[in-house]
This record gives sequence, structure tokens and C-alpha cells, in this order.
Amino acid sequence: MKTIVLYESKRGSTEAYAKDIAKAIDCEVLPLKKFKWKTVKDYDAIVFGGWTRGSVIVGIDNFLSHWEEMKEKNVIVFSSGLSPSSKVVRDAMISSNLLDMYHLRYYQLQGKFDYASLSFLDKTLIKTSVARLQNDPNYDDMHKAAMQRLLTTPIDVYDQEGVNKIIRVLNKISLEVASA
Ligand SMILES: Cc1cc2nc3c(=O)[nH]c(=O)nc-3n(C[C@H](O)[C@H](O)[C@H](O)COP(=O)(O)O)c2cc1C
Repeated sequence: MKTIVLYESKRGSTEAYAKDIAKAIDCEVLPLKKFKWKTVKDYDAIVFGGWTRGSVIVGIDNFLSHWEEMKEKNVIVFSSGLSPSSKVVRDAMISSNLLDMYHLRYYQLQGKFDYASLSFLDKTLIKTSVARLQNDPNYDDMHKAAMQRLLTTPIDVYDQEGVNKIIRVLNKISLEVASA
């Protein structure tokens, strides 16, 4: 099976996830902007990972604008963000990125985040969304406290279980493609 992993990363955690997935299944890996879409027909599976900004997976619009070229293929999307992985966050990400309009698999991974390193504008964006979340009944107290902590304590998470899940799915697809 021929697979490619594409990514959009600002501070490196999404890039590290993309490269580790590609290494595990021995396939190509490229920044999304460098991919030549005319070659997409050569692949059986296309993986895209983007970092999250204001609940949007950066690069997802660009990636999904090529849906017609990919719709017969196996498509996997993952995001890296500050939110701990959970069903509520995953559902919210699917909804805000309109992922349920497409036949694809989506995985939400936690990555790196350091509030102190952000610009004034980015700090304001994060502070506002953390404050808004405190009144959101969909999130439990543990999630709210974890989000509040991010304003003072940096995180550097590597979601090995999430990465393993994506690798397992790609291996399963590979067996299906081989036996088709
Ligand atoms: C301005 C800004 C907005 C962000 N918004 C979100 C968000 O809405 N949800 C989230 O989970 N993470 C958010 N993050 C956290 C990043 O997605 C996280 O740090 C990610 O792991 C960065 O990936 P990278 O290391 O590949 O750049 C935001 C970060 C910044 C700087």
C-alpha cells in the first residue's frame, strides 16, 4: 500500500507525530504545502495532521478542498492541540471542522503548549476560550481545571496511545488493500 502523511505544524509537535507515523509504516511524509496534488492518484491512503488554532485544524480547508481527488481513498485526519483527548473535545472538533461531512477517520491528540511564549493577541484568544469553557456544561470539572492550568503551566505531551491507534488503523487498511 502506498501512503503519504501530510502535516501543518507551527511549533513541531504535529510534525513529530506525522514523522513518527510515517516512520512506523515506512511511508513518505511532507508539509501539506509541499505536496503535489497531481500525484494523489498514486496513493491508497492519505493522512493529514494539523495543529489546532481556535478549534480549527490549521490546513484542513486546503486539505479538504481536494476531497474530490481523494474520496475513493482511505483518508485519516488528526489534530494536535492543547486540549486533553476526550470524546467531548473530539466531537466538538468534528463539528467545528465539519469533518462529519466527509467519509474519513479523525483522531484528536494532545501536543505541546506554552502560554507564556505566546504573543499578546494569541494570549487573549486562549484566555477568552478558557474562560468561555468554564461555563460550558459539556465539559467536566477535571477538563475545566486542566484548561485553567494551561494558563500557568506549559505542557509537552506525546500521545503514544493515539499514535499507535493511527498506526494500527493504517496497518489494517494495508491488509485490506493487499487482499482486494
Ligand atoms: C493562538 C493559538 C490558539 C490555539 N487554539 C487551540 C484550540 O482551540 N484548541 C486546542 O486544542 N489547542 C489550541 N492551541 C494549541 C496548539 O494547537 C498546540 O499547542 C499544538 O500542539 C501546536 O502544534 P505544533 O507544535 O505542531 O505547532 C492553540 C495555540 C495557539 C498558539
